[in-house]
Amino acid sequence: MKPNKYSEFNESNSKDNLKGVEFRLARLGDENALTQIHINRDGGDKESVKKIFSNEIKAIGESSALFVAEYKSQIVGFGRSRFIEADEELGYRNMPSGYYLLGVIVKEEFRRKGIGEGLVKARIDHIKSQAKQVYTFVDEVNKSMILLLTKIGFLRLTDDFTYPRSKEKKKMVIFELNI
Ligand SMILES: CC(C)(COP(=O)(O)OP(=O)(O)OC[C@H]1O[C@@H](n2cnc3c(N)ncnc32)[C@H](O)[C@@H]1OP(=O)(O)O)[C@@H](O)C(=O)NCCC(=O)NCCS
Repeated sequence: MKPNKYSEFNESNSKDNLKGVEFRLARLGDENALTQIHINRDGGDKESVKKIFSNEIKAIGESSALFVAEYKSQIVGFGRSRFIEADEELGYRNMPSGYYLLGVIVKEEFRRKGIGEGLVKARIDHIKSQAKQVYTFVDEVNKSMILLLTKIGFLRLTDDFTYPRSKEKKKMVIFELNI
């Protein structure tokens, strides 16, 4: 894992939220910008990552969404949500079925301007008409994301669960919010 995979936790609160950021569902044409943001943080093969994004965009519907933050015609961040049917027969253990917020990334130079929070809230708004709870996973060392979620009202649910799709050996925690 790259050392800067998570934002360095910085308690200073010189908040200057960016005005004029639009939070919207991704559309075809956004793939290049999304791919660049993904690769800058997580690496990967450009064409494969781009294909994944274009498939995700085409699949946006009731059970999955991909939101982007756009500022002055530039994509500056994104976040996904997906309905997970956490069936024990499929290897899930101790996980509620429901809508999960997954994989949010804000471009480094746009961090700490309210965009991460905006992406979380936009996805919650999108899910609101379909569910009463929303869940998310966070690596327990990702203090920045945990604080962001806690401020919105998410509560820690459990760290004793199995998510069969997970490839990385991180200590993840599920957070829950009533919406
Ligand atoms: C985590 C991340 C999405 C936050 O996005 P962001 O746009 O910088 O966050 P916001 O500006 O909306 O922050 C909202 C609140 O979260 C907390 N927070 C966010 N980043 C923080 C940091 N680096 N240090 C301390 N608190 C932080 C603060 O309470 C902040 O409010 P404040 O600025 O008024 O103090 C961003 O840092 C990122 O892309 N990190 C790398 C990817 C990642 O870790 N994704 C999450 C797991 S998949």
